[in-house]
Amino acid sequence: MTPDLDALRTAYVEQLRRHGLTEAGWLDAFRTVPREVFVPRFFRRTPDGRWQGIDGSSPDYWTEVYADRTLVTQLDGTRDPQPDAEPVAGTPSSSSTQPSLMAMMLDALDVTGSERVLEIGTGTGWPDGARYHRVIATCSVPSVPLAWIDQTEEGGHIVVCLWRQLGNPLIRLTVHDGTATGTFLPTGGSFMPARAYPVLNEQQALRAAVRQAGQSREIAYPASILDDDHAGLWIGLQVPDVSRLGLHPINGNEQLWLFAPDGSWSMLDLAKDAVEQYGPRHLWDEVERAYREWEDAGRPTRDHIGLTVTRTGEHRYTLSEAL
Ligand SMILES: C[S@@+](CC[C@H](N)C(=O)[O-])C[C@H]1O[C@@H](n2cnc3c(N)ncnc32)[C@H](O)[C@@H]1O
Repeated sequence: MTPDLDALRTAYVEQLRRHGLTEAGWLDAFRTVPREVFVPRFFRRTPDGRWQGIDGSSPDYWTEVYADRTLVTQLDGTRDPQPDAEPVAGTPSSSSTQPSLMAMMLDALDVTGSERVLEIGTGTGWPDGARYHRVIATCSVPSVPLAWIDQTEEGGHIVVCLWRQLGNPLIRLTVHDGTATGTFLPTGGSFMPARAYPVLNEQQALRAAVRQAGQSREIAYPASILDDDHAGLWIGLQVPDVSRLGLHPINGNEQLWLFAPDGSWSMLDLAKDAVEQYGPRHLWDEVERAYREWEDAGRPTRDHIGLTVTRTGEHRYTLSEAL
């Protein structure tokens, strides 16, 4: 059956409008640029956590294309969707970004139509085209590369997500005199990390951790501080290189694990309000210290948390007093 594309696209743009996209030019672009051209095939998650390739022959292809959802287009860096094959296991390595997140970032990019814009995450890193008025990244990076700052015009913006498992740090930086400064956007976002960066395997880390004994103590703050929109961002920035894993053992209490690449881990027993910590870094101590700093600063909202990337690449995070 031929889909009613007009109705699908109208409902799609309506969703973006409800998410706060008001700029007529962007609304028009989302309405008129067909998303299906970029996603002739993609992967859909099956209830058992595997991935099924689908294409236009699937009955719900069109509703998925015009849903406000990320569509996974590649697994493990090499595998493309095969609609006729059985579902497969794998880790997403490329996707068509969730439209409302893209809309928010394009809005923050603040373009009028005459700028030179570099998008990172479409097959890029292109000094020949520099300098750019705007840089927008659709893969995340642990820190902002100096090359991006060097290739941005004076007064230009960089919109990017930092690679963290905590806090969803999405920021707009403005470049002046080789230094990039800005505050985090009121709403967060997250992207898969750029390929050059190693990603910790939590299952492997867990297998090593369960054979080790750490030091235990009571927690001063509940695990939920990690998910606070504002405190969670500051924690993510101050406690870098941390992966998290929620676990509910069949015969035990719910647990929250934090792992670092140097082998450090913290495990919170959510029913006992206790933490066990192991390794050179005491990760939960670091989390509580960051939370206390955020409280002492008057609990600032995300848009009062800032970053300056200096000419040498140092990242300085700042908390402004809440207004
Ligand atoms: C989430 S997808 C975004 C695709 C598209 N730009 C969008 O927003 O729908 C992230 C993309 O970043 C690309 N990528 C990964 N590592 C990269 C790197 N080091 N430099 C540039 N692009 C990279 C991947 O190939 C992938 O296509």
